[in-house]
Amino acid sequence: KILANTLFLGKDIISLPECHSTNDVAVEKIKSREAAEGTIVITEKQTKGKGQRGNVWESQAGKNLTFSLVLSPKFLQPMQQFDLNIAVSVAVHELLSEYVSGLKIKWPNDIVHETDGKLGGMLIENIIGQKGIEFSVAGIGLNINQRFFENLSATSLTNLSGIDFDKWEIFKLLIHKIEVYYLELKKGNLKKLNLYYLNNLFRYQEWANYCDSENFVGMIMGVQDDGKLIIQKEDGIKNYYGVKEVSFL
Ligand code: BTN
Repeated sequence: KILANTLFLGKDIISLPECHSTNDVAVEKIKSREAAEGTIVITEKQTKGKGQRGNVWESQAGKNLTFSLVLSPKFLQPMQQFDLNIAVSVAVHELLSEYVSGLKIKWPNDIVHETDGKLGGMLIENIIGQKGIEFSVAGIGLNINQRFFENLSATSLTNLSGIDFDKWEIFKLLIHKIEVYYLELKKGNLKKLNLYYLNNLFRYQEWANYCDSENFVGMIMGVQDDGKLIIQKEDGIKNYYGVKEVSFL
């Protein structure tokens, strides 16, 4: 059993050898009132792992971390939903950076290596009630000990460092860090988290290629409170993008 030194996160862990998607299981458990805030659903094998933009999340069984946190950020206004993405990405980035260098947060919340591809990602799904956000399911997929990938732009801690990791140790430290930053968010201490996010943002203030309705060269200038990415084009005009509205080339 995993013993984390947390206040509420991971006190209840639903550990499944296999499931379709830990996010889906978490949502089902919330709806049937079997999961309260702090519950974590974790599995060794997802048969239908979900990524952002309707993509699938592939992860070799047994090698990596795939889990979902049940949170209840009722203190966030619907407009501030992105703050949770920031708090979780900062926690994940900061912890993984203790093992390998060169990691960046790719907007909105991927963890990438600056030159070697994607290490992990998050999918946050909200359950909205009459009074706003009732629950958020924060699904996290991190490639830890997987060596071979079909997707050539994927990587793992092992591939970046050449060594194998104790994924349970990483999991334990990670949920502790996420809890700390979640509680900061709850207290309204966003400044440090926002600053960390920007300072570690992939391609922040660098010219690079993107595509909206056409290919263009632009520079990321920041992220709005609502999570939209701000990219300045070569003509100096700033554009604001939602998740599906722009891609990195
Ligand atoms: C992305 O980068 O596209 C997001 C990936 C999120 C994957 C995790 S794995 C655990 C949880 N369950 C899912 O079905 N998806 C998330």
